[in-house]
Amino acid sequence: MPFFTNKDISELEHLYKINMVNSLSGYKSANLIGTISKDGIENVAVFSSVIHLGSSPALLGFILRPTTVPRGTYKNIKETGVYTINHIANDFIEDAHHTSAKYDSEISEFDVTELNANYLNSFKAPFVAQSPIKIAMEYVEEYYIKANDVIMVVGEIQSVTIEDGLLKDDGFVDLSKGNVAAINGLDGYAIPTLETRQTYQRPQKINIHK
Ligand SMILES: Cc1cc2nc3c(=O)[nH]c(=O)nc-3n(C[C@H](O)[C@H](O)[C@H](O)COP(=O)(O)O)c2cc1C
Repeated sequence: MPFFTNKDISELEHLYKINMVNSLSGYKSANLIGTISKDGIENVAVFSSVIHLGSSPALLGFILRPTTVPRGTYKNIKETGVYTINHIANDFIEDAHHTSAKYDSEISEFDVTELNANYLNSFKAPFVAQSPIKIAMEYVEEYYIKANDVIMVVGEIQSVTIEDGLLKDDGFVDLSKGNVAAINGLDGYAIPTLETRQTYQRPQKINIHK
């Protein structure tokens, strides 16, 4: 059974290490973040670090790798204060993955893939037309994480557009009905199937006899 200490991990060959460590946190969300520069150049890139931070207010966070190389998404968010989070679905995984390629800032990933930019409700940043769940976000704040030189960007949901058939009567969004992808590691994509929903749990009444 493979076993690694912290020292073993630190000494692994680079690609092996990032493949392994990126798999360890479990399945991750699969999103495309859409932005536009102040000069009007659109950008879209795949991110697997979007997380729920809270519902009131409705906040989502995501992790930006070190900004030592130019980061179009970050630059555009800082310039405009807005971005979109779009779920990746089964039928455009290949194009979604390709948005991780390092294109020059004058080139929009919308122009080199079949992904289409979509503007909704006068929101300034582009959505991904093909995406079943499109979330408009406004930048709130960011936290620098000293340990590895990354930034957590915190944003507030401004609006959400959900494809018909996914939203249940109680507010649950059935991602599996939308064939929404999850990311395993750095380059593995899964289409999870919803197995069950569980009821709200309360402590059991336990009779303790002393
Ligand atoms: C599956 C996958 C997940 C990724 N997740 C992240 C992420 O969470 N944070 C990040 O900074 N980059 C992530 N990347 C890398 C970005 O997609 C890549 O750096 C992209 O070029 C960023 O575009 P930008 O420079 O236009 O912002 C991921 C790449 C892949 C393939």
